[in-house]
Amino acid sequence: VNTIIVELTKELAAIVGRPNLIVDREALMPFETDYTRRWHGEALLAVAPSSTDDVARVLSVCQAAGVGVVVQGGNTGLVGGAVPADEVVLLTRRLDVLEPIDSLASQVTVGAGVTLEAAQRHVRADGLDLPVDLAARSAATIGGMTATNAGGALAVRYGTMAAAVAGMEVVLGDGKIVSRLSGLLKDTAGYDLARLLVGSEGTLGVITRVRLRLIRHPTQRLVAVAGFGSLVDAARAALTLRDRLGPSLEAADYVDAAGVRLVRDRRRLPPPLAVESGHLLVIQVAGEDVESLLPVVSETLDAAGVTAVSVADDTSGRERLWTYREAVNESIGAQGLVHKFDASIPLGAIPEFAAETHEAVALVDPAATVVIYGHLADGNLHVNVLSPDLDHYRVEQALGQLVAQHNGSISAEHGIGIAKRDLLTLVRSDDDIAAMRAVKAALDPEGLLGRHRVLREE
Ligand code: MLT
Ligand code: ZN
Repeated sequence: VNTIIVELTKELAAIVGRPNLIVDREALMPFETDYTRRWHGEALLAVAPSSTDDVARVLSVCQAAGVGVVVQGGNTGLVGGAVPADEVVLLTRRLDVLEPIDSLASQVTVGAGVTLEAAQRHVRADGLDLPVDLAARSAATIGGMTATNAGGALAVRYGTMAAAVAGMEVVLGDGKIVSRLSGLLKDTAGYDLARLLVGSEGTLGVITRVRLRLIRHPTQRLVAVAGFGSLVDAARAALTLRDRLGPSLEAADYVDAAGVRLVRDRRRLPPPLAVESGHLLVIQVAGEDVESLLPVVSETLDAAGVTAVSVADDTSGRERLWTYREAVNESIGAQGLVHKFDASIPLGAIPEFAAETHEAVALVDPAATVVIYGHLADGNLHVNVLSPDLDHYRVEQALGQLVAQHNGSISAEHGIGIAKRDLLTLVRSDDDIAAMRAVKAALDPEGLLGRHRVLREE
């Protein structure tokens, strides 16, 4: 291994320059463990190329040496997809170009390593915004969000990254560069390779640049936190708001009492509402005249049995209210090792699924605490299981079965990575998986990229 590393170091340094290579064991540590600390592995080294051509050169060196490559952006993933397993870590951080905004098309092309926050700042200066937003914005990168088809809170309104991506540039596993950055709304010239790369989790190619569709930054945004006595009531409110407000509803997220408690303890926050409520809905309404929508909002919340509401329409007030929902991930992480299960559930089955989740986990581990939160209006729940002595395998099996029974998906927005590989057969047929393997073999014939992620190697 050492001679391979010495040889790789020499060849890669000739491409990216020695300062853009990390080989020191201690310096590699931040890239070897993910946000959950559940997933960990060793890196041969880390390399940070700054152009698409250099990415292609790096891949060909790795291919010649027969070593695997894992792509890493902000390392905010939760399924072990970006954690190395005796591989070269390809860091996207120097792929950080922010191209000028194409205001006619309302699009912008940015480097894969640009953080969501940097992209937001760039386009907001022109009165525009990104149609996808998520809590990890300060570290999560556009490349990583594209590779995992990230969703976040605004998906109910604008869709996931799949809808936001108008094109991309990518180095495929075989080293060939495919550039589809024209951003044409209509372009049916053959297979949509760019679309295929969305959600491919670094297993088909290395995304180097992404062309994004932008939205007009709404003139007004209002956030309300509403309390409910049950998830049934909260779900009814979210779905009725979606129907009645139409495109003015930007988000309707959910967090249970256990989640709120963890956030309050960690961030030392007062209760979000005057009345203690077991189930919290965080809604975001946007438009030209949000005030005029308030009667519909309060009517709907009342009809669903709301217990208390808090509203904010200024930036810091909105952020304060979102914290009760957005800081759950971080607050759970601070508790120690957690089993995270991201699921998509048909809208009508959400309350039943949540109740059955509590029962199923109690059967596996009576001492476990279950925290449920997520993007309620689009059916995306984040189930988190905390226990001092957790049997990850049994929890995963129980939750996977439950999701499949309800015709849901074992991954809504976090991806498969290594965490969910073995659950794939619950929601994808053998023929479906065979088609995925055929695509993988065609675009990455040497099996260089993201080995063992998404699909187990045969
Ligand atoms: C979120 O919605 O906060 C993220 O998907 C992260 C998580 O599931 O914890
Ligand atoms: Zn989420």
